[in-house]
Order: sequence, then structure tokens, then C-alpha cells
Amino acid sequence: MNSPVMQGLNLNAPAFVKNAKLIAWVADMAALCKPDSIYWCDGSEEEYARLCQQLVDAGTFRKLDPIKRPNSFLACSDPTDVARVEDRTFICSQNKEDAGPTNNWMAPAEMRATLQPLFDGCMKGRTMYVVPFSMGPLGSPIAHIGIELSDSPYVAVNMKIMTRMGKAVYDVLGVDGEFVPCVHTVGAPLADGQADVKWPCNKTKYIVHYPETREIWSYGSGYGGNALLGKKCFALRIASTMGRDEGWLAEHMLILGVTSPEGKKYHVAAAFPSACGKTNFAMLIPPKGFDGWKVTTIGDDIAWIKPQADGTLRAINPEAGYFGVAPGTNTLTNPNCMASLDKNVIFTNVALTDDGDVWWEGMGDAPAHAIDWQGQDWTPQIAKETGAKAAHPNARFTVSAVNNPALDTAWDDPKGVKIDAFIFGGRRSTTVPLVTEARNWTEGVYMAATMGSETTAAATGQAGVVRRDPFAMLPFMGYNMSDYFQHWLDLGKKLAASGATLPRIYTTNWFRKGEDGKFVWPGYGENMRVLKWMIDRIEGKASGQEHVFGVSPAYEELNWTGLSFTPEQFQTVTSIDKAAWQKELALHAELFQQLAYHLPAELSETKERIEQRLAA
Ligand code: OXD
Ligand code: MN
Repeated sequence: MNSPVMQGLNLNAPAFVKNAKLIAWVADMAALCKPDSIYWCDGSEEEYARLCQQLVDAGTFRKLDPIKRPNSFLACSDPTDVARVEDRTFICSQNKEDAGPTNNWMAPAEMRATLQPLFDGCMKGRTMYVVPFSMGPLGSPIAHIGIELSDSPYVAVNMKIMTRMGKAVYDVLGVDGEFVPCVHTVGAPLADGQADVKWPCNKTKYIVHYPETREIWSYGSGYGGNALLGKKCFALRIASTMGRDEGWLAEHMLILGVTSPEGKKYHVAAAFPSACGKTNFAMLIPPKGFDGWKVTTIGDDIAWIKPQADGTLRAINPEAGYFGVAPGTNTLTNPNCMASLDKNVIFTNVALTDDGDVWWEGMGDAPAHAIDWQGQDWTPQIAKETGAKAAHPNARFTVSAVNNPALDTAWDDPKGVKIDAFIFGGRRSTTVPLVTEARNWTEGVYMAATMGSETTAAATGQAGVVRRDPFAMLPFMGYNMSDYFQHWLDLGKKLAASGATLPRIYTTNWFRKGEDGKFVWPGYGENMRVLKWMIDRIEGKASGQEHVFGVSPAYEELNWTGLSFTPEQFQTVTSIDKAAWQKELALHAELFQQLAYHLPAELSETKERIEQRLAA
């Protein structure tokens, strides 16, 4: 093989890297990708500042005004590289059935043969960054380690914010520790003397996972979940298969703590599809009428949950930062998030204002003039005439969790937090009521498995169409969806067998619309009213009203202090329309048909029971 030394490339692993497998793998990847140099990231502040300056010099970053947004940068991507590419994302298990009908699949050997020529020489003219990261608190029994090799310094600095990245990871890894190897290239090698562009990428894209060998290979994109491989690729797709094999859960869930005025604390993990307000819910500020209540953030996107010997479930946030959608975020919808963005932020694809700050649709008053995310002049008048957006609808901020004023004190606790309830919430303008508690674990799994949601801009594709998004995991499942349902059912049985009280399971829908097409439920901080009802249920203080699908609150059971919301409005967001539900169940049947291979019988039986109740 063409070794890096033969190419004149200095592998130069620093003395603190002692893992032989890692060093050999980096050498192999360097031989394949043929970078001009290799840089081993140490995760220091000095390194972050240096790489950011390098990105400024290259024109990828623009430094924002140091008074208005200290130590913050704006990157604008290539207009063809703005979101996750689900149609280019592959699960390459040996057997097609193990990827299941919801994933793109290719046989590993065929995919390796496809990728080989693409990766061969893909980093020419560039530096290969070796990015060591821990998903979860360093050394936590719930955490796992990954190493990303990337030719993008933008990826290296984002990984510094999004993960525990740096030298200390090598101490945990030791000489023979396990890591998930993640290879990323923008797929834009540079010929001798060829000038670089601000946002290198390739129109060919492959986001590839080999679940059996726990490898990730990403080609052609520099954006978000396609490129920051710790997030969706590792923490969800690969980790979900690790969880299946090892008896734990990797979920697309925020984790929050909610503390009563008496100091009683509960932890809730909530799954909502992409761009449905997970960050807002995780940073919720209780409204009027909830004096003394506090909501604190453990995570805003992903939860790793491991069962304990006593039958409880403990969860960590594997990430260390937030890669959130900027448009729509403002001081009313999410004051904690806006405060988090005061300093030390990387913005991607938002607009640049004339005073060196950022702006996006839904942030507040529009500036008289800005440079939009594509580098064009933007004014409110231009927007009116052409519909041009100042920020891309999937524009993002990358910010460290420690910026969050509502950060939970246990967010970095290696033991994780005990989960008391799960919430599954889709975006549905009709049909699904505000909140329902499942009567038991199986019915909860059914609710989660059949969840539907109207699509948004987080993935490319058409927005506003209802798609089934089981457990909000549709784009993130690393194996067969039906086997995953079975895994949840099995876990419930295992926990129950150890005599533990299982977490309650709820489904929510903040997005019902009235006849005027407007949202009826005020959402955001007002969701505390629903959260409090869930706690009342856990504490046995609310009897609720049972219906065909589960238990929902009576109007009087919610605390309405400080909000004028009439029983009629409540009826609009909670009513169960028999005809709409008959249609909904027909859609569940379609889903179950699609997922027929290994679909747990318990779920089909649950559906039949609901149909019978509905018909009665
Ligand atoms: C995300 C997503 O970026 O779900 O979190 O798309
Ligand atoms: Mn997400």
C-alpha cells in the first residue's frame, strides 16, 4: 500500500496518542485520501481561535462585530449544500432486511467499491484533521468515543463546540479502547496551485453507515448532520444499532429537568421530528401562574439511555452543544436560546447586517438592509417583491451548551439523569389531540411508532406534507424500524420484570389549527401547562379522561392562571374526530404494511383494539 511515509507525508502522531489501532487507521486513511498534511486536534481554545482565523482568511468565515457578537462568526454555504441529504444517506448492512424499508441500502462490498475511487485522493491539497471526540461526559459508562477524520476545518471547529473534543479523549481511549471511525471529506481535492473556494463540496454526496463494523463514511457535503459525524450519523444511526446489540436506546430526544416550587425534580425525554421546537421545549421558561417552577436543559436533540440494575433508565445528552435552527428563534419564542447566542457562536446561512451582526426571519424587526445568506443585497422591499429570504430556512447556530442560562447542573454528570416520562410529539394541524397519556408501555410504543408529522425545512424535500415519522427517528434509524419497535417492547418487559415503575409515555401535538388556519394552542412557554399535567399524573393528582387512545386532561385539570384559553379553544385542540381517526388508522395500516417484516404482533393487536374501541 502507498504509505503516508512513502508519499512524503508525516503521520506525526503526537505522544499523547497511544492507541495503536487508531494510529494504523489514520495511516491507512491518509494513504487513501492523500491529504497534503495531517493535523491532530488537541481541542484547546488556542487551536479553536487559530482554526477560526484560518477560516476567516480563507473567506469561509466572516468575523462578526466584536461588541455586538463577541468571538462569533458567520459561514455561508454553497447554495447546493444546505441540509441533510436523506436520499443520499445509506445503511449498508449485510442483509437488506436489517436496514429495513425506511432506509436506503446497498451491500457493503458494493458500497465500498463505489466509495473507493471517490475517496482515493479526495483530500489532495488539503489538511486531514484528526478530531477525537467523546459523545457524552468523558469516561461516562453511557458515553462512547469517536474519531472523525475530515478535510474541513469548519467541521473541526464545529466539532469542538458540539462534542467533548480534544486531547482528554485519548486518555479515555487508552492503548486499546474502542472508537467509532468516521471519515469525512468535502470531496473537493485541489490540484497544484488551484485556488480554493469558500465552501468546497461536491455535487455527488454519500452519507454511509456500516452498522456491523460501526463505520461512518461521508462524502461531498460540508453541512451539519452530513459532516458533523458525531451527531446524526454516530449518536443516532450507529448508536441505535449499538443500543440494539447492547440493550440500550439512542433516541432523537431532548432531555429536560422540571423542578417544582417544593424542589421535587423530574426528568423528561421528548422526541419531536426535526425543526418541531425541541430546542424551544428544552429551554422552556414557565409562564405566569407557575411561580417557583423551573425547567432546565440536559439536551436539545439526542438522548442516550441505558437501563440500570434497579430497572430505572438513566440518560445523557451525548452532545456538548446545540446545532439549532435559527429562523423563528426570538426573545419571545425562546429567550434562553437568544441569550445563548450572545457570544462564541458559529452561525451558518443567516443574513449579515450592515453593523456586522446577524439577522434571520422571525428574529424581530427586519434591518433596512442586509446581505443575505447567498451574498446578495437584501431589503424588506426586495423580500416583498421577490420572496427572497435573508436567511436560509435551515440556517443554523452552533453554540456550546454552557452558554445556555437554563443549563441543568447535571447536564455533564457521567451517571446521567433518571427518566420519568417520555413524550412523542408530531406537528399535525388536525386529528391528534394536545396531549394523551398511554395506558401502558405497549400503547405508548404504538403511539410513538405511528407518529406522523408535517415536514419542515431541516431535510431537503417538500415542506408541509404529513409523513409517518416513527419515534421521530425516520431519518436516523440505523437498522430495521420494526426490529427497533421490538427492541422498545422488549426493554419495557425487561424493566417491568425488575419491578421498576416504567416511565410514563405521552404523545403531544402543539400544532392543531383552527378553521382560520391559525395555530390554536399558544405553544412555547405555555407548554408548561401540559408538562405540569404530566407531573400531576405521575404524582397521582390528575385523574384525566380516558378515551379510545389513552388518557387526556379535562379542561379543569390544567392550570390556566395567566392565560386566557376558553373551554371551546381547549375543545378545538383536544377533540377526537371519529372520521378523522378512522382515516388516521388507515394510514397506520399502510405504515404497518410497509413495515410488515418483523412488525411486532403486539402493535397490530393494539391497532385492532383501538379500531374496535373507535367503532364501538
Ligand atoms: C437536526 C435535525 O438538525 O433533526 O437536529 O435535523
Ligand atoms: Mn434533530
